[in-house]
Amino acid sequence: MQFGRTTLSKFVIEHTRASHGELGALLIDVAAAVKTISAMVAKGALGGSLGALDSTNVQGEVQKKLDVLTNEAILHHCEWGGQLAGMASEEMDDPYPIPAEYPRGRYLLVFDPLDGSSNSDVNVSVGTIFSIFARSTAGDAALGDYLRPGCEQVAAGYAIYGPSTMMVLTLGNGTHGFTLDRESGNFILTHANIRVPEDTREFAINTSNERFWEPPVQRYVAECKAGKSGVRGEDFNTRWIASMVAEVHRILIRGGIFMYPKDNKDPKKPGRLRLLYEANPMAMLIEQAGGAASTGRQRILEVAPDSLHQRVPVILGSKNEVERVERYHQEYD
Ligand code: AHG
Ligand code: MN
Ligand code: MN
Ligand code: MN
Repeated sequence: MQFGRTTLSKFVIEHTRASHGELGALLIDVAAAVKTISAMVAKGALGGSLGALDSTNVQGEVQKKLDVLTNEAILHHCEWGGQLAGMASEEMDDPYPIPAEYPRGRYLLVFDPLDGSSNSDVNVSVGTIFSIFARSTAGDAALGDYLRPGCEQVAAGYAIYGPSTMMVLTLGNGTHGFTLDRESGNFILTHANIRVPEDTREFAINTSNERFWEPPVQRYVAECKAGKSGVRGEDFNTRWIASMVAEVHRILIRGGIFMYPKDNKDPKKPGRLRLLYEANPMAMLIEQAGGAASTGRQRILEVAPDSLHQRVPVILGSKNEVERVERYHQEYD
């Protein structure tokens, strides 16, 4: 046991004194939910929670049992503390009002309770993503309170349930990673001030959608695949895990570019990933670590949302590669 190491609780209390402890208390509840989910996910087939339900969520995705259980874990860990004005999630059509018996606060918590849930049955890393906004006053949130650009987030983070469970967090002052010590039950600061390398030779994209992409993304990927024999003059490597948390985590640790770009598969959907609880928190974490996050045409954090579950193209990671993809969009438009 190493005394004196920084726990997540100590870190958030020290960094949220300006909010009189409210934001810190909320983050500690989020961390408690993450520990519950970590234990639930780790049970695998022994927990009886694998597999799908008959229900679909608002995006038409078949819900996994774990999508629903993890959603409930976060609601119940975070609803009682008096810091929240409301919550919204991938798995609920509408925002969740704070139950009548609990006090209201001024924060809004928006989350993807189980990211990469198609991987939950196959024992591959999954995660939880969250984003926090503040209202100026305490009280019940209206739908419009949630529709704010990501640059107004006061905190964002994710948990990754991999060989170790980690929580990666930003409060607008760098991106910091905490590893769960399963013996003590504490999250310990193990990755202070993560920096994304500016250059990379690793890209992540679901190439089964290649025929639906726009020409700038097709051009970028073709150049990467051409490797040494093409204009880039270097070989690239590719990775696709199908858990955004796992891709972003890899990029934070060793660099890379991740793309779920605009495609013409379904004209009603400008991309696959959801702005409020996937793209915005990841964009803040990546920018705070010195990377970039773009739709190809705009900084993700400046996109003004018009609905809770809206989708957005996502291109994020090592700065010089993201800027190159943006340049290809400019040259095309
Ligand atoms: P979720 O499991 O929360 O619905 O999100 C899945 C997302 C994201 O994690 C991943 O990058 C992407 O969907 C995978 O999409 P494909 O199945 O098209 O590869
Ligand atoms: Mn889903
Ligand atoms: Mn997701
Ligand atoms: Mn999800």
